Amino acid sequence: MSQAIGWNNFVDTETQAEHRRLRLLERIFDPFSLRQLEGLGVEPGWQCLEVGAGAGSLARRMAELAGPGNVVATDLSLKFLDPLTELGVTVLRHDVTTDEAPGEFDLIHTRFVLDHLPGREDVIKRMASWLKPGGWLLLEIGTTMPELSSHPATRRSMAVLTRVMTERVGTAAEWGRTLPVPLEAAGLVDCAAEGSILPARGGEPLAHWLMNTTKLVEPHALATGLITREQLDEAFALYETPSFVDYTWMTVAARGRRP
Ligand SMILES: C[S@@+](CC[C@H](N)C(=O)[O-])C[C@H]1O[C@@H](n2cnc3c(N)ncnc32)[C@H](O)[C@@H]1O
Repeated sequence: MSQAIGWNNFVDTETQAEHRRLRLLERIFDPFSLRQLEGLGVEPGWQCLEVGAGAGSLARRMAELAGPGNVVATDLSLKFLDPLTELGVTVLRHDVTTDEAPGEFDLIHTRFVLDHLPGREDVIKRMASWLKPGGWLLLEIGTTMPELSSHPATRRSMAVLTRVMTERVGTAAEWGRTLPVPLEAAGLVDCAAEGSILPARGGEPLAHWLMNTTKLVEPHALATGLITREQLDEAFALYETPSFVDYTWMTVAARGRRP
């Protein structure tokens, strides 16, 4: 088995294709994320941190709720975050696994980042230590569920996506299903979690995003014989077929508060 090299070494995070993939991700998953964020009652003046901000939509919403000067957005790649800086948000190149606390916060949120990180339970402890007393940590984690697929072709392609992400990136595709226990283990209180599973209908944004995400692993999967071109094309054709529906991606949102 080849060694895991991490998200930012496996994925070219600065291409226009990756920007489009992140914008599509935001369009699909922001409504659930915003319900979670707004449910915590963010108010003007709250100090907020968005970790691994990607293309920046959730930090932008935090800025609307809390005031731009109260929001810090971090990532290893800042390529798509200039509009946040222009808004007055503090944008930092910052590695959540190793760098110093970027402040003290009433709310820390991160989506689809810890899934891919080594030592993710230690990262939760790090972020918990950056909270003010009473401050909230809100995590969103993706979990793939190829076993629930409605068709053998997409079951196979989702299983290959999961396997390559696990082996090459270090992604823990099932870890989200353990939440909120890791938040309790980090000493947080009032912990709770909720899963969201959306239908991936052929031709619609989630099906396109699953296809674009599978394309990230395509060169490795083809080169190592995990799947053939024909098998991938069969799955991609289903993702374009309006009568096709699949349920293979769950987002788990989990929250906990510093006592
Ligand atoms: C799958 S993308 C998710 C982007 C964004 N959170 C969203 O949900 O729209 C993962 C993001 O985490 C960032 N990232 C990866 N490792 C990181 C680290 N150690 N510290 C901070 N950000 C990291 C990547 O650069 C990328 O922007």
